[in-house]
Amino acid sequence: MELGALKAEIEAAIAAAGSPEALEAVRVAELGRKGRITELVKSLGTLPPEERPRAGQAYNELKREIEAAIAARRAALEAAALEARLARERTDVTLPARERPEGRIHPVSQVTEEIVAIFADMGFTVAEGPDVEDDWHNFEALNIPPEHPARQMQDTFYLESRDAQGQPLLLRTHTSPVQIRTMRAGKPPFRIIAPGRVYRRDYDMTHTPMFHQVEGLVIDRRTHMGHLKGCLTEFVRAFFERDDVPVRFRPSYFPFTEPSAEMDVGCRRSKDELVVGEGSDWLEILGCGMVHPRVLEAVGLDPDVWQGFAFGMGIDRVAMLKYGIPDLRTFFEGDLRWLEHYGFRPLEVPTTFGGLSR
Ligand code: DAH
Repeated sequence: MELGALKAEIEAAIAAAGSPEALEAVRVAELGRKGRITELVKSLGTLPPEERPRAGQAYNELKREIEAAIAARRAALEAAALEARLARERTDVTLPARERPEGRIHPVSQVTEEIVAIFADMGFTVAEGPDVEDDWHNFEALNIPPEHPARQMQDTFYLESRDAQGQPLLLRTHTSPVQIRTMRAGKPPFRIIAPGRVYRRDYDMTHTPMFHQVEGLVIDRRTHMGHLKGCLTEFVRAFFERDDVPVRFRPSYFPFTEPSAEMDVGCRRSKDELVVGEGSDWLEILGCGMVHPRVLEAVGLDPDVWQGFAFGMGIDRVAMLKYGIPDLRTFFEGDLRWLEHYGFRPLEVPTTFGGLSR
């Protein structure tokens, strides 16, 4: 075939290739190992020697032109594909933002985040334990003797499965077993809080069979009651977002602490209102104390070297107090109108510097 005609034919094929694949097929047919131009170049050897230089030059020129034409076509196809994709994936950022239906953060989640934010600022980390516990972690290691009322069937949900000791497993009745797990798993000093679900057989305005607690534990060589008071006073003031919340500690009893105390916050009670942070009434808010030496011994710590304090607080309860929610049972009914009213805006993460509740 005459070179000019061949070139025209190939150029037409290149122009007609509508996709990268079609173009590649043209390239292989002309420039591939068995392509027509390749065969032409290979056939140089069969020409009489005096014709070879001119023919060689012409073939090479044809080859370069076709290569250039293919490259140009490929670039054009790619540009067109990009344009098409940009057009397809176009977002009109000039559209005004529309009010979209939006979820709400449940008060329990909100208050948990607030508590974590405050204690994180004081250097605590968050620890976790399982909801299904065994007798040893939930009671025994916490110095709760077998005849203790908390062990009786009306308080604790027992499961049918048993642990290796043959004791029935149970739903943890408090977050205190996380103290035990934390101390067993790591090395002192400890400074943790453990928020989570707990379970008791109870149901009325202020009790539900599942509720939430947060446990706190500080163990070090020289921790004393003064640290406990300072830490919890600081917490309560940060939590209720008032620097002047009156607090008092009353002697109390818990098997896992000695001495034990309950912490009250000052409040004002009227007919159907409760304001925390002022007034002459007191409201119990948490239990606390110095970790009992027997608890330390149970986890293999020497009570002559290590000591510290612990506390336990009802998350739902402080949520009710802080946000004026009268009935605990409504927390777990999943009523959207309730959540719309008492819930929090998503993405407004509580921080001690940016504000806890806003
Ligand atoms: N575990 C107790 C409860 O469920 C709360 C508690 C009281 C936890 C005193 C503690 C503590 O760590 O020191 O009522």
